Amino acid sequence: MDGVTLLSDYKPYPFEISSVSLIFRLDPAATRVLATLEVTPRQPGAEMVLQGEDLKLISLSVDGRALGSGDYRLDETGLVLPAAVLPAGPFRLQTEVEIAPAANTALEGLYMSNGMYCTQCEAEGFRHITFYPDRPDVMSRFHVRIESDLPVLLSNGNPVGRGPGWAEWDDPWPKPAYLFALVAGDLRATSGTFTTRSGRKVDLNIWVRPGDEDRCDFALGALARSMKWDEEAYGREYDLDLFNIVAVDDFNMGAMENKGLNIFNSKLVLASPETATDTDYERIEAVIAHEYFHNWTGNRITCRDWFQLCLKEGLTVYRDQGFTRDVRLGALKRIDDVASLRARQFREDAGPLAHPPRPDRYKEINNFYTATVYEKGAEVVGMLATLLGPEGYRAALDLYFERHDGQACTIEDWIKVFEDTSGRDLRQFKLWYTQAGTPKLTVSEAYENGTYTLEVTQVTPPTPGEEEKPPRHIPLAVGLLSPNGDEVLPTTVLELTEARQSFRFEGLSARPVPSILRGFSAPVVLERATTPAEQAFLLAHDTDPFNRWEAGRTLARQTLMAMARGEGAQLDYLDAVGRLIADDEADPGFRAACLRLPGEDEIAAALFARGDTPDPDAIRTARRKLMKMLATRHGAALTRVYDSCAVTGPYSPDAGPAGRRSLRLATLALLTTEDGGARAAALFAEATNMTESIGALNALVGEGKGQGQLAAFAARWAADPLVMDKWRMAQGALTPPDEAAETVARLSAAAAFDWKNPNRFRSLLGGFAANHAGFHRADGAGYALYADWLLRLDPLNPQTAARMSTAFETWRRYDATRQAHAKAALDRIAATPGLSRDLAEMVGRLAG
Ligand code: ARG
Ligand code: ZN
Repeated sequence: MDGVTLLSDYKPYPFEISSVSLIFRLDPAATRVLATLEVTPRQPGAEMVLQGEDLKLISLSVDGRALGSGDYRLDETGLVLPAAVLPAGPFRLQTEVEIAPAANTALEGLYMSNGMYCTQCEAEGFRHITFYPDRPDVMSRFHVRIESDLPVLLSNGNPVGRGPGWAEWDDPWPKPAYLFALVAGDLRATSGTFTTRSGRKVDLNIWVRPGDEDRCDFALGALARSMKWDEEAYGREYDLDLFNIVAVDDFNMGAMENKGLNIFNSKLVLASPETATDTDYERIEAVIAHEYFHNWTGNRITCRDWFQLCLKEGLTVYRDQGFTRDVRLGALKRIDDVASLRARQFREDAGPLAHPPRPDRYKEINNFYTATVYEKGAEVVGMLATLLGPEGYRAALDLYFERHDGQACTIEDWIKVFEDTSGRDLRQFKLWYTQAGTPKLTVSEAYENGTYTLEVTQVTPPTPGEEEKPPRHIPLAVGLLSPNGDEVLPTTVLELTEARQSFRFEGLSARPVPSILRGFSAPVVLERATTPAEQAFLLAHDTDPFNRWEAGRTLARQTLMAMARGEGAQLDYLDAVGRLIADDEADPGFRAACLRLPGEDEIAAALFARGDTPDPDAIRTARRKLMKMLATRHGAALTRVYDSCAVTGPYSPDAGPAGRRSLRLATLALLTTEDGGARAAALFAEATNMTESIGALNALVGEGKGQGQLAAFAARWAADPLVMDKWRMAQGALTPPDEAAETVARLSAAAAFDWKNPNRFRSLLGGFAANHAGFHRADGAGYALYADWLLRLDPLNPQTAARMSTAFETWRRYDATRQAHAKAALDRIAATPGLSRDLAEMVGRLAG
C-alpha cells in the first residue's frame, strides 16, 4: 500500500541476534563495516530480512561459507536471505559493506560533521551503516572495534581495549540498533564523576571540539543533577561505569540517548554567560536530563515498534518536566510548558497533521517526532499521575520497571501496570493514546440555597480520518473561591467520563468563583462564559498559580481578539496589568510570564476557533497597539520595575536572577514601543551577558530599528555560528512584515549562511515561519520564499526539510487569497520530481 506501514501488520522478528560485533575502518569516502551476527532461528522455515540502504555489499557469509549473488535477494531497501541458505540451528552471519560518511548530508547513519565522525540511528539510521534487522524489538549485545588515526574513538558501553589507531568497546546491555553510536574525532573532554546511591563510581565526560572546553561546565553539572534526581524521584540508578556526551555541530534534532554515549546538538551543550541566554541554560539542563532519563525509559525498557514512540518520549518528557519543576520554579515551568503545548501541539491537533500520540500508520517515521507524540504524550502521563495520585503513580512506575526491564514494550503494557497497581479500568482512558484531537469542555454553572452546580460537556472535533469521537476520561482539577478571595474548596479532581456531567458542591454561604482546570490538569480547551471582572479577580486571588496566569492570559487574548476586530481595549485588562506591575510581592518570573502578550499565531488560532477569518496584519496592529497602550498607561510603573530589576554581580542562570532578567526584558519590550528605543540601545551597549544583549536587540528589531546594533553584534560574533543563529533568528522572526521576506532573502544569500547546517537553516527560516504577519503576507511572497528553501534543502536533508514544512499547517485558517498562495506553494513542492519520501508525505497531508 504505497509505502505505508501499519501498526496492525506488526509481527515478531523470527530470529534472535544474541550478539553483534562491528569493525569500522573509518575513511571519509570509503568506510568499511564488518558485521558479525550470532543468530538463533526462532521460527523454522523463516527467511531473514535485513534492512540496508546506500550500502555497497563487499562480502556475505553464513558460518564462514561465502554466499553468491544467486543465494540472496538484494534491493534498495535491504537484503533477504531465503530459509534455504540458512541453517536450522544457531549460525554466524558476516557481512562487509562500504559506506561514504563524508557524502552523507542527510545526517542519518554515520556521517561527518566538522571533521569528526558521528552517528544518528534513531529511528531507522542503522540501516545506512550495515545490513541488520533495524527494528527496536531486536535487542542484542554490541561489541565495537573502531580503526582510525583520530585521537578520540568512542562507542557505547565500556572501553575494553585501546592501541595506536584502534579502540574497542563492549556494551553489556542488550539494545536495539537505534541506540548504537560511534564518534571519532579530535575532541576534548570536560570530566567529572558521580557516585550512585549504591556506591558505583561513574566517570562523566562532555566531549567537544578544541576551543569549546570552557563552555561545558554547566552541562556537566546538569548531568550530575539529573542522575541524582532520577535516583530520588524514580529510584533509578545508572548502570555503567562511564557516561559520555558528545556535542556535534550538524544534527537534525536536539539530542540522542544512545546507550552510554549521548550525542547532542552543540547548541544544547555549550553555554557561557556571554554566548547563551537564560532560556538556553534552562533548555540545556532539561535536554541533558531528558536524554539521561532515557537510560531507563527508552533504553532499559524500549519500544516494540515505532508506533509506540510516545511510550518512551511522552514518559521521558514528563520526567524531564518534573525534574525542571523541582530544580527551578515549579509554577513557572508549568506555565511555560502549557504555553508551548498550546502553541505547537494544539496547533497540530487543529490542522491537517493531527494524529494520536500513538498513530497507527505512517510512511516516514521521522515525520512523527512531533509535539503530539512528545508533549501531548507527556500530558497523558501527567493525567495518569493526577488520577492515581503520587503514591499510585510511583507504584505503577515501580511495577513498570520491575516487569518490563530488558523488554521492548507497547502502550498496552504501560496501561496494564497502572490497571494492575490501582485496580482501575483504564480502557476509556486509553483513547488519549489512540485518538487525535483536543477535547473542548463547556462549563455552565448554577447556584441556589448554598449549592453550587457545575455542568460540564465534552466534545472533540473531528480530525483527519476520525469523524466520531467518544467521550474521554478527563481529570478536571477545580477549586472554589469565595467572593472575598478566600478559598472555600481546595483543589479537587473531578473525573469526567461522559459527554455531559454535573457536579454539586453543598454548604456554601455565597456564590463561589470557580477556578477550573487547575494546573492544566488535562490537555483540553475550556470554554466558560465569564466576565473580564471575574478573570481579573482570579488573576488577583487564585491560589493556583497556573490559573492565575491563565486568567491574565485569557483577558489578554480576549482583548486582542476584540481589538483585531476593530473594537477597543478592555479596561479590566489594562487595570489588572497595572496591579500586576505594581505587585512587588509576586515572583518576578511569574510577573514576566503574565506581562508577555499572547503571540500573533495564538490570536489567529483563537479567532479561527470561533469562526472568524484571522487577518494577520490586523492582529499585528492590534498587538502593537495594546503594547503601546500599556506603555503609555503604566509608563512610570514599568520604568520603576525596569530600573529596579537590573541584576548585578556575576552571572548565574538560576531561577532567581533569570526571573528578574525576564521581568526586566518583558517591561523593556513594552517601554521600547514608546521611548524610541533609547532604553534598549542603552542596555545593548552595557550588557554583560547574552540574555541582555539579545533581549535588547530583539526589542529594537521588533520596532524596525537596531541596524547599528545588528552590525555591531555581527562584528563581535562573526566567528561563532551558534551566537549568529540568534542574530539570524531575531531578524527572521521580528523584522516588520513588509520587509521580512526581503531581509530573509538577503541574509540567506550571504556567504556566512551555511544552509546545509540544520541549526543555521532553522534559525533563519524557522525564525521567519514564526514571523506571523511576515510569513503569511497577503502577496504570497513569504510562502514562495519558504517553499524555495524547502525544495533546496530536501535533496540534501529530507528530515529537516519535512519537519520545517509544518510552517504550512495553518494555511486553511486564512482568507481565500492567502490560501491560494499557500496552496500554490504546496502544489509546487508536491509536483517537484524526486521529492523525498519525508517531504512528500508531509505536503500530501498538508494539502489534503
Ligand atoms: N530520541 C531522541 C530524543 O528524544 C530524538 C531522536 C529523533 N531523531 C530522529 N531522527 N527522528 O531525544
Ligand atoms: Zn526523547
